[in-house]
Amino acid sequence: MARTCIYPFILSLTFTFFTLTSASSEADPLLTFKAFVEDPMNSLSSWSNTSGIHHCNWTGITCTTTPPLSITSLNLQSLNLSGEISPSICKLPNLTHLNLADNLFNQPIPLHLSQCSSLETLNLSNNLIWGTIPDQISQFSSLRVLDFSRNHVEGKIPESISSLKNLQVLNFGSNLLSGSVPPVFGNFTELVVLDLSQNPFLVSEVPSDIGRLGRLEQLLLQSSGFHGVIPESFVGLYVLTILDLSQNNLTGVVPQTLGVSLKNLISFDVSQNKLLGSFPDGICQGKGLINLSLHTNIFNGSIPNNTFDECLNLERFQVQDNGFSGDFPNGLWSLPKIKLIRAENNRFSGEIPDSMSMAAQLEQVQIDNNSFTSKIPQGLGLVKSLYRFSASFNGFYGELPPNFCDSPVMSIINLSHNSLSGRIPELKKCRKLVSLSLADNSLVGEIPSSLGALPVLTYLDLSENNLTGSIPQELQNLKLALFNVSFNRLSGRVPFTLISGLPASFLQGNPGLCGPGLPNSCSEEKPRHQTAGLSTLACALISIAFAVGALLVAVGFILIRRSSKRKSQMGIWRSVFFYPLRVTEHDLIMGMDEKSALGSGGAFGRIYLISLPSGELVAVKKLVNFGSQSSKALKAEIKTLAKIRHKNVAKVLGFCHSDDAIFLIYEFLQKGSLGDLICRPDFQLPWSVRLRIAIGVAQGLTYLHKDYVPHLLHRNIKSRNILLDADFEPKLTDFALDRIVGEAAFQSSMASESAFSCYIAPENGYSKKATEQMDIYSFGVVLLELLTGRQAQKAESGDSLDIVKWVRRKINITNGAFQVLDPKVSNASQQEMLGALEIALRCTSVMPEKRPSMSEVVRALQSLSSKAHLPNLEFSTSEEFSVPI
Ligand SMILES: *[C@@H]1O[C@H](CO)[C@@H](O)[C@H](O)[C@H]1NC(C)=O
Ligand SMILES: *[C@@H]1O[C@H](CO)[C@@H](O)[C@H](O)[C@H]1NC(C)=O
Ligand SMILES: *[C@@H]1O[C@H](CO)[C@@H](O)[C@H](O)[C@H]1NC(C)=O
Ligand SMILES: *[C@@H]1O[C@H](CO)[C@@H](O)[C@H](O)[C@H]1NC(C)=O
Ligand SMILES: *[C@@H]1O[C@H](CO)[C@@H](O)[C@H](O)[C@H]1NC(C)=O
Ligand SMILES: *[C@@H]1O[C@H](CO)[C@@H](O)[C@H](O)[C@H]1NC(C)=O
Ligand SMILES: *[C@@H]1O[C@H](CO)[C@@H](O)[C@H](O)[C@H]1NC(C)=O
Ligand SMILES: *[C@@H]1O[C@H](CO)[C@@H](O)[C@H](O)[C@H]1NC(C)=O
Ligand SMILES: *[C@@H]1O[C@H](CO)[C@@H](O)[C@H](O)[C@H]1NC(C)=O
Repeated sequence: MARTCIYPFILSLTFTFFTLTSASSEADPLLTFKAFVEDPMNSLSSWSNTSGIHHCNWTGITCTTTPPLSITSLNLQSLNLSGEISPSICKLPNLTHLNLADNLFNQPIPLHLSQCSSLETLNLSNNLIWGTIPDQISQFSSLRVLDFSRNHVEGKIPESISSLKNLQVLNFGSNLLSGSVPPVFGNFTELVVLDLSQNPFLVSEVPSDIGRLGRLEQLLLQSSGFHGVIPESFVGLYVLTILDLSQNNLTGVVPQTLGVSLKNLISFDVSQNKLLGSFPDGICQGKGLINLSLHTNIFNGSIPNNTFDECLNLERFQVQDNGFSGDFPNGLWSLPKIKLIRAENNRFSGEIPDSMSMAAQLEQVQIDNNSFTSKIPQGLGLVKSLYRFSASFNGFYGELPPNFCDSPVMSIINLSHNSLSGRIPELKKCRKLVSLSLADNSLVGEIPSSLGALPVLTYLDLSENNLTGSIPQELQNLKLALFNVSFNRLSGRVPFTLISGLPASFLQGNPGLCGPGLPNSCSEEKPRHQTAGLSTLACALISIAFAVGALLVAVGFILIRRSSKRKSQMGIWRSVFFYPLRVTEHDLIMGMDEKSALGSGGAFGRIYLISLPSGELVAVKKLVNFGSQSSKALKAEIKTLAKIRHKNVAKVLGFCHSDDAIFLIYEFLQKGSLGDLICRPDFQLPWSVRLRIAIGVAQGLTYLHKDYVPHLLHRNIKSRNILLDADFEPKLTDFALDRIVGEAAFQSSMASESAFSCYIAPENGYSKKATEQMDIYSFGVVLLELLTGRQAQKAESGDSLDIVKWVRRKINITNGAFQVLDPKVSNASQQEMLGALEIALRCTSVMPEKRPSMSEVVRALQSLSSKAHLPNLEFSTSEEFSVPI
């Protein structure tokens, strides 16, 4: 009885004793460690013997869970720490894991950590560690995990590293190691991960003793200057799941024996080497294929027993850009987990079996530029996850199966340069299809009109076939960037929007086609001069636009009346001014009437010009359609915009908001918007002023994109959103409204406008993410307006003849860039203007990646204004469109 009472007492005594002793002995090394470290984010603030927090509860510390408490792990990842790694932590007798990854330690490999007697894991990944690996690395013989990846470690791997026999993970990836890798791996019997990737200065054969690592699961040797052959010994890697030998200089064949052992592979990548020959017989002949082998008949002789279970886990198979030949491993096409097959740019032969339908996870197939000869399998349309199927430059023949585009996520199909025949099936299911190329086959029949119903189809290349009939009117529904039907046997009238420039239309080689700009004008067309015809049409469209505009104004008026009535009854207004504006919400609301409204308003709401009691003029943008941001978040976002200070960005002076409207108050500039100016019939500015405006706008955008933190996208650049001060210095307004109204509301507002807007980049239709390149496209459109003196959009209906189309068409037809330049500008400026025209064409390139960055544009424009003369410029507009993706 007495014993049971005393026992807990003793226990608690010992507990206190141990806690105290360990506190004093283990906190000190930590405090010493801290003293040598620079800690800009003050992450180690809890590390203090006065904080009252037990050191086991300090940031990054883990102790044993049962007394005696003792530190086992120190994890100080991603804290921007720099300074010195003090050896004091080796006074922690039980420290097992040390993770200092993603910091800024700038020193040689800290050998003194080998004094830490219990240390098993050392992670110094992504620091600034430099210098060579010293021979004394052998002192780390107790380590199981050594991660020095993403540092600046250089020189040769020393032979002494072979002493680290307990290693399970050895990672020297992304360093500057050089020379040849010695055969030091034979004794790493525990090794699970070996990563020597991305060491571009290595010049080495692949050490064959790696093949003895029977426990190796991941072997990553990509991009590291390995040459020579893949060692036969790799057959010993029975449990390998990831093999990456890509982007080296490997030669020879893939060892015949390899296939047998790589049963557990998930990812196999030997792409971008100089490998040759045929693939090992029977590699990846999974169980599923045994039945099918009877009719695909690719096996000679018996199938080895031990290959039956192979590759059942394989997800990625990448062998592209080598010199492989022979039959492509047929079993791959029906593996249950395969997601990615890339084998382009080899000389593989063989077929794609119908059993492809069993590859239920397959997402991407790229086998362009090989020698496959077969029909396109029916199975293709049954794989519901497939989004890319690219098999150009092969020998595929026969008809396209009617279901070939049935995958609901299919977005890229390239079957160009094959021998397909028959008709193009109606395409209805692939609603995500962005690019379809069937060029250079022997397809016949008509272009299916159902193509016009595919909502995001952007690139369509049907050139060099034997298609007949007329071009379906329905294709006008598409926002095409490229439309190529050249060299077929099409006939009849070309739908208007397909001939008017953008999309880049390639129509030649169809003698039966007629329309403006083509050799044949259509018979019922009035024998008029072609530009006259266009301008009549433009006039008609303008008058429609006016009518629509007037209607909008009327509707707007009614709505405003209604909403202001409602607001004065129930709105609670909150205002934040960033400038001393003496104005109340009431003044603002009262000031907003039809008289003060500028234009008919954009997608987000109207702009009003309000005269403050002080006599100052401000522009007030009224946003009515916005998401449900909290008042606090809203304030933070608008503050972000208001803090911008750049001579080419309009100041946000303040805002006020209620539950159903936000008023954004901008500085107002004397001369109004560039858009208004261009619109005037008497628009006339000398080129030097126009160039200055262009440079200013470009500088404002560069600032938003690159210099301001956070980086911003404008997302709504157009000449109406560029204000001009008394000296014609431009200022951007309406920028980054997405941050205020929220992405969803922004998108839906833009969608209502963008269907017509020619400022919107073509990829906007299918790309979910807004990019700098989209801003750059819009800038290019503004630059074209400055160059041509024309408004970007002459009409607001879907048929508008936009400026990009107009310019490209003009240059294409007449081959004379001079003709697009504003005739009201003096001839003396022509050379500079042609230079700017080339910049504008690059900015409005259909391919986003071909557009220059905004800072490149600034430099190019500035160099124009300083250069007196330029050499004659060649325009290669059609070249820009020659590659579909
Ligand atoms: C706190 O730590 C410092 C440095 O180790 C030591 O000089 C000081 O006496 C300690 N203070 C207390 C209250 O333990
Ligand atoms: C660490 O903090 C937890 C929760 O605050 C507490 O329960 C625990 O007792 C502390 N450990 C030590 C050793 O002080
Ligand atoms: C951390 O360091 C990086 C690189 O020096 C720097 O960009 C980042 O702003 C730093 N973070 C903090 C919070 O100091
Ligand atoms: C911690 O280290 C001490 C001293 O080496 C040792 O006696 C003790 O057993 C270790 N504790 C644990 C939990 O490993
Ligand atoms: C080391 O830390 C980095 C950064 O957190 C992590 O990505 C990596 O997996 C770690 N290394 C090991 C071997 O766990
Ligand atoms: C492997 O270990 C054995 C015995 O420990 C040693 O003799 C041999 O040199 C080691 N091999 C390598 C490549 O380090
Ligand atoms: C391959 O070798 C050639 C010359 O031998 C060299 O120029 C090239 O950089 C190497 N490529 C790689 C990826 O190491
Ligand atoms: C090989 O296949 C035969 C017949 O299916 C089977 O009986 C045998 O167990 C298999 N051998 C191995 C090693 O799997
Ligand atoms: C197109 O059809 C014509 C007549 O049927 C034939 O002579 C020609 O070879 C075909 N061209 C192609 C590319 O299939």
